[in-house]
Amino acid sequence: MPIARPAPQAPRVIAHVDLDCFYVQVEQRRRPELRGLPTAVVQYNAWKGGGLIAVGYEARKFGVKRSMRGDEAKMVCPDIQLVQVPVARGKADLNLYRDAGSEVVSILAAKGRCERASIDEVYLDLTAAAEQMLTATPPDTLQEIDEETLKSHVLGLQNGESVKQWLCRTDADHLDRLLACGAVIVAELRAEVLKKTSFTCSAGIAHNKMLAKLASGIHKPAQQTVVPSSSVPDLLGSLPINKMKQLGGKLGSSLQKELGVATVGDLLHFTEEKLQELYGWNTGAWLWNIARGINGDEVEGRLLPKSHGCGKTFPGQQALKSLSVVKHWLNGLCEELSERLQADLDKNKRLAHTLIIHADGSKAQGALTKRKFPSKSCPLRYGTAKIQEDAWKLFESGLREFLDLQSSEWAVTSLSVSASKIFPVPTGTNSIVKYFGEKQQSYSQTSEVCDVYGEDTTSISSSGDHLSEASDLQPVNHFGEENNGCHSPGMTHQTNKCSTVNREKGVCSILEHFHPIRFLKHFPPTVDGGTSGSKDEETESFKNEDAGTSPSHEIQVDQQREIWRFNVEDVDLSIVKELPPEIQQEVQTWIKSSKRTNPAKRPGSSISHYFAPVKKS
Ligand code: CTP
Ligand code: CA
Ligand code: CA
Repeated sequence: MPIARPAPQAPRVIAHVDLDCFYVQVEQRRRPELRGLPTAVVQYNAWKGGGLIAVGYEARKFGVKRSMRGDEAKMVCPDIQLVQVPVARGKADLNLYRDAGSEVVSILAAKGRCERASIDEVYLDLTAAAEQMLTATPPDTLQEIDEETLKSHVLGLQNGESVKQWLCRTDADHLDRLLACGAVIVAELRAEVLKKTSFTCSAGIAHNKMLAKLASGIHKPAQQTVVPSSSVPDLLGSLPINKMKQLGGKLGSSLQKELGVATVGDLLHFTEEKLQELYGWNTGAWLWNIARGINGDEVEGRLLPKSHGCGKTFPGQQALKSLSVVKHWLNGLCEELSERLQADLDKNKRLAHTLIIHADGSKAQGALTKRKFPSKSCPLRYGTAKIQEDAWKLFESGLREFLDLQSSEWAVTSLSVSASKIFPVPTGTNSIVKYFGEKQQSYSQTSEVCDVYGEDTTSISSSGDHLSEASDLQPVNHFGEENNGCHSPGMTHQTNKCSTVNREKGVCSILEHFHPIRFLKHFPPTVDGGTSGSKDEETESFKNEDAGTSPSHEIQVDQQREIWRFNVEDVDLSIVKELPPEIQQEVQTWIKSSKRTNPAKRPGSSISHYFAPVKKS
């Protein structure tokens, strides 16, 4: 559902950059002999020459289209070079293209806030850079304007005005002058991308994301289009309604059928009240705004993808018809997802929190319900086997709902797994874990560190629940949370309850950062905790470290059974400073309190009151 956001008061310069025939360019860089030749990238499935997924511009001149199969493409362009997409686990492996996209992102991010919007697209907020240029070196003061900028398309130029004249107008309003600076900056960035990666891209430069995105596709390849405010009515007046983002589906069709709206500009004939009456307050306001080219969406500072997903379709005869075959494919998809999550964690220090599966299915004719295969989600546990196990539970649950307790034949025609709610691991936790890890080398693997859910924790929710789940997850709450709880194997249900609303000092906020399982591994229970043999072995090494007179802390996570200790003097205070301020304060407090209350500290002094269960009032 579109969200109506008012435009910010201050003018902005936003660019949308999209790489041209992206997969083809990546393949042509790998195999330079293909450069200049009509080329397309095909799916690995060789049926009828494979489905085309990217078509180079040389091939487009012959009428080759993405919807074609390789055999059809050869009929219209006999010399076409068909390159098969890389394959892994029986499906397309897009890592090569993802990595190539990242190269481009890192170059484009140099000039302003940058949002990676897809595998080959980014938005840039160039407002600050454009303002700065306008103050220091506006286009009219430049000795020479580079060729790439001069090749810009400026929408709505009047009376034979040239691009150069438009760029250098000193009597233009502030908005247009900012866009002119934006055009110079984007041309430089595109030249830089070409130089460093050999990829060409196209761009739109406008005052908001919506207009920039529309503009980037108007002139391709290797060109850029500028949208001055004065050109917006004409641009939208001629834009078919279904070409507008979010209007390609039902809403767009409804506008066409019920209101006779053919172009985005036609929406101008309706008042905001009328649109709201018909489509609800938010959507109505959004429609009223887009008709005028108003869009307040911010460029999110995000260089990394928002989610990871991998899927596969099984059309026609390939449809999956037995649980064992589904399991085989699901396991493969989960393996790939797990590898990508692990790479993201290792490289970017990010953790995903939600696992989602989507499937499409068909039922034998005569099945009573028309229910679609529901999407399912659950908290994500790291480790391939766990992801596979959870995805399988989700699939089974989805299938049960899909069949609606009827025993009918079924077939799965597409399957995908994805991981979302990806947040950075807090720096402090990261470094404190590293610090603790250095004390005991044997538990340094990130997969183990992250894998803190209990064995039977898969709580399944349907796709409709995703939003509520998102609101429950806090960016700082990375280890071991189960929905909105601080769940850990060592905690009872009762001690475990700690909603963000009911957060008491020292009880849960600290545990979000110092998950008990870490202490299980690094700071195992003391003997009086009465724990199992394997834990005792770790206790032994802990005891060795704890030998001497330094004060130590007990963290009592479950009053009945487990008491956890660590040594205050083992905590490097410079590392504590890396923790989030709220947690820093807490750690400092209990370190101080421990020293104050126990000046001649004996080993094992207790600060368990800080970690005691929340007292119910
Ligand atoms: N892609 C895909 N399936 C789609 C749409 C896109 O696999 N239905 C892949 C394409 O292979 C493509 C990349 O995503 O290379 C980017 O898509 P897009 O920007 O739409 O197309 P390009 O091939 O980059 O072509 P253009 O120059 O028109 O942007
Ligand atoms: Ca593209
Ligand atoms: Ca694209």
